[in-house]
Amino acid sequence: MILTDEEQQMLDGDKGSAVKKAMEILVALGESFGAKRLVRTNNVHMAGSSVLVAEEAGTRFVEDIRDQGGNFVTRVTTNPTAVDPTIWDEIGIPEADHVLQKRLTAAYAGMGANACNSCIPYLVGNNPRFGEHMAWGESSAVVFANSVCGARTNREGGPSGLASALTGRTPEYGFHLKENRYGKFLVKVQVPLKDMTDYGTLGCFTGKIAGQDTPVFTGIPDDPTIEQLKALSAALASSGSVSMFHAVGVTPEAHTEEQAFGGNQPEKVVVFGQAEKLETEAFLNKEPSDHVDWILVGCPNATVQEIREVAAALEGKRVHKDVALWVTTSGAMYAMAERVGYVETIEKAGGTVVRETCPFLARSRVIAPKKGYKSLTTNSAKMAFYAPGQFGLPTHYGNLDRVMKAAVNGVWS
Ligand code: F3S
Repeated sequence: MILTDEEQQMLDGDKGSAVKKAMEILVALGESFGAKRLVRTNNVHMAGSSVLVAEEAGTRFVEDIRDQGGNFVTRVTTNPTAVDPTIWDEIGIPEADHVLQKRLTAAYAGMGANACNSCIPYLVGNNPRFGEHMAWGESSAVVFANSVCGARTNREGGPSGLASALTGRTPEYGFHLKENRYGKFLVKVQVPLKDMTDYGTLGCFTGKIAGQDTPVFTGIPDDPTIEQLKALSAALASSGSVSMFHAVGVTPEAHTEEQAFGGNQPEKVVVFGQAEKLETEAFLNKEPSDHVDWILVGCPNATVQEIREVAAALEGKRVHKDVALWVTTSGAMYAMAERVGYVETIEKAGGTVVRETCPFLARSRVIAPKKGYKSLTTNSAKMAFYAPGQFGLPTHYGNLDRVMKAAVNGVWS
């Protein structure tokens, strides 16, 4: 790789041992992917911010970097953690995770991170610009940033994100280059998409056939909501390793089908119709009985709009006594929802608005047996895809209306 004089000085250790180690990581990563150079970035979203992922060794690594004088030179936001800092004990999170998480979050914050602890950084203080080079982790946020915002990022892991935050550089390969951002195959959507769950179902269907390839959608309504696009982004990156999609007439690099494909022909054309939708919904419904005990709304993190819809569904009702309802969100969204009374409505009805964590990044293999949860019911395709394999809970999957009826009645119908 060709380095500038300043980058070479960083690699030689002129800016301290933390920056030297960071530059070594970036050069090794860039060379393994054939990058010719580094590009400047001022925007990092850190994936390795949960102790479920970092554990003791990863936490020490981040603390060591801080103690060597590590200082973030870019804007840095952080992904959800393993802990709700206020009600961790009540919801079954182990104390050891609470203690370790405080250390990890403090280490990131000590180097200058904005510890928003959210998987929707684009809604809580880190809104990417079109064309901006970034180093983001969190697969759902990467797809949203590349596709909906037109920013440029690969899927970064914890160490490479940390290295970019310390140096303000990221290797120029993959989705940083225009020629890698064109669509590879076409998905013709031929069924109405009514709510964010339908968008998640489309994402799950497409991700399974995509691998790492970029899909181009036609037939998506021209006015999807932020919530629908985040559900699509999350599901694409769960059942597949997709980092970007185009929706013709919706996303900024796909004003036309020709633009989305860069003038190339699609390698394949698939249809998403009623049969494909039903088949994917059946795939995500792994729990054969009508048993409901743990309900999750807010993957990716719930917006105030979603929290409002949950509150409206619970107005004058109660969550069934055998059901735990989690609405997972960021601290910032929580504060806004609390201010307008939605949190109070949900809590009075017996639900819980959980901050800064989710069943995927908390230690659900400990929480579920401790609380007696045997299944997970959700309106999120991403969570329904991961729950059976990641923490051993079969899922009920359906739209918010169906999920909230299950919350009140205690059965899946
Ligand atoms: Fe966010 Fe957790 Fe879902 S990090 S995207 S709520 S799995």
